[in-house]
Amino acid sequence: SILIVDFGSQVTQLIARRVREAGVYSEIAPFSQAEAAFARMKPRGIILSGGPASVTDEGSPRAPQALFEAGLPILGICYGQQVMCEQLGGKVVGGMGEGEFGRAFLRVDDRSALFDGLWSEGEQHQVWMSHGDRVEQLPEGFAPIATSEGAPFAVTSDEKRRFYGVQFHPEVVHTPDGGKLIANFVRHVCGCAGDWTMASFRETKIAEIRAQVGSGKVICGLSGGVDSAVAAVLIHEAIGDQLTCVFVDHGLMRSGEADQVVGLFRGAYNIPLIHVNAETLFLSGLAGLTDPEAKRKFIGKTFIDVFEAEAKKIGGAEFLAQGTLYPDVIESVSFTGGPSVTIKSHHNVGGLPERMNMKLVEPLRELFKDEVRLLGKELGLPDIFVGRHPFPGPGLAIRIPGEVTKERCDILRKADLIYLEEIRNAGLYDAIWQAFAVLLPVKTVGVMGDGRTYDSVCAVRAVTSTDGMTADIYPFDAHFLSRVATRIVNEVQGINRVVYDYTSKPPGTIEWE
Ligand code: XMP
Repeated sequence: SILIVDFGSQVTQLIARRVREAGVYSEIAPFSQAEAAFARMKPRGIILSGGPASVTDEGSPRAPQALFEAGLPILGICYGQQVMCEQLGGKVVGGMGEGEFGRAFLRVDDRSALFDGLWSEGEQHQVWMSHGDRVEQLPEGFAPIATSEGAPFAVTSDEKRRFYGVQFHPEVVHTPDGGKLIANFVRHVCGCAGDWTMASFRETKIAEIRAQVGSGKVICGLSGGVDSAVAAVLIHEAIGDQLTCVFVDHGLMRSGEADQVVGLFRGAYNIPLIHVNAETLFLSGLAGLTDPEAKRKFIGKTFIDVFEAEAKKIGGAEFLAQGTLYPDVIESVSFTGGPSVTIKSHHNVGGLPERMNMKLVEPLRELFKDEVRLLGKELGLPDIFVGRHPFPGPGLAIRIPGEVTKERCDILRKADLIYLEEIRNAGLYDAIWQAFAVLLPVKTVGVMGDGRTYDSVCAVRAVTSTDGMTADIYPFDAHFLSRVATRIVNEVQGINRVVYDYTSKPPGTIEWE
């Protein structure tokens, strides 16, 4: 295994991810707990992460000195390189406004075990830099093996001790060979076998969940999405019927969705499930609300009320399980410390733990969405669940600008079903991150048969994205869109016009509210 010592970089989890992709198990430990983790894990190698501090600042973090004396390979990334250099007797100089940020090109000057089968002398390679400080004087035994314009010691190594330092970030996608470089380190240099898989992750997490929960009771809110479903199935495998799932059906689900969730959990997995039909409660509260934030806040709060009431009925649950993913974790921790603007109040069960005084079980915290999908497959969840487009907690309510009524939900459900059916038929579902219909509070005039119509406009949206933070529109061909428009207008009473949303994110958001 590999020990990753975290100095607080935004992308430390990406290092862990690259190590997993190389088929090797790793654990992340904050620098202050790295020595204990090292003793417990007995790893084959160590990676020192980047971080926001400056080595030149008083009191800035250091790696436990013992790590350098263990005789194991070490890879220092950015701050990790600088801290290693400093702790082994080299010299780092601070900022002075000459850092490098963004794309840079390295020239490879020497051969190294780190570059085996990947980079050769004299070649240029694109990497991603983000640093203010730089190494000025190397510790004894080190030599530069690649340089960039702003960093004469862009890659340095002590091949004898198998210590490597890179000034750039190999873990981010903007360093195209970065994943292979990390794989080289963990497999060739550290000698890890590379046979670790999602099946191993499953085993490890099951043991962890058992250790955390003991004989306690756990409740888990299901949203119908892939994250909470995967978390619930994994936890059930670990602790069986100590887990109860609660599915709050707010009546704002898509066509057939509630039945699918209930069918999967009660049928395929036989997991105890409380299905709360709260449609009336939600729709009566939404009556008269038109402001997007007011709608979101009402739904979030009501969801918590209902969930809490159900949890009380079960009685004595100490733990709340959530399908929190790594991007959820990092987005909620502000990097700069400055308050960020609330664009939308995202609804999840985030308000629950505090209010209910429960401990959290979050087995997916280290994973990215595509890894959760892999784990879902590993757990045998059907493709229709695993490959599902994301669906927002407030459901159809934020796809019906203006007032939400049962009638409008029904109209939207029909249009959305047709649109997604066409997308699946055209084989495009998996190429699209998210696709949905929106029912607008605008009526337009049309003509059908010999009569005049005066009905609502439906907008259809489809985007590509990797994380939902930015998105591009999906470029359907005109024939496809006109087929969708024709079917929706012909088959859905209440809609007489269909438009396509051509806005990327930013400046648009994916949802309309
Ligand atoms: P926006 O509209 O902010 O959406 O560009 C980005 C992604 O987040 C989803 N989304 C939500 N998911 N609760 C959720 O669980 C919410 O309140 C929520 N609002 C938006 C949206 O569907 C897209 O995938």
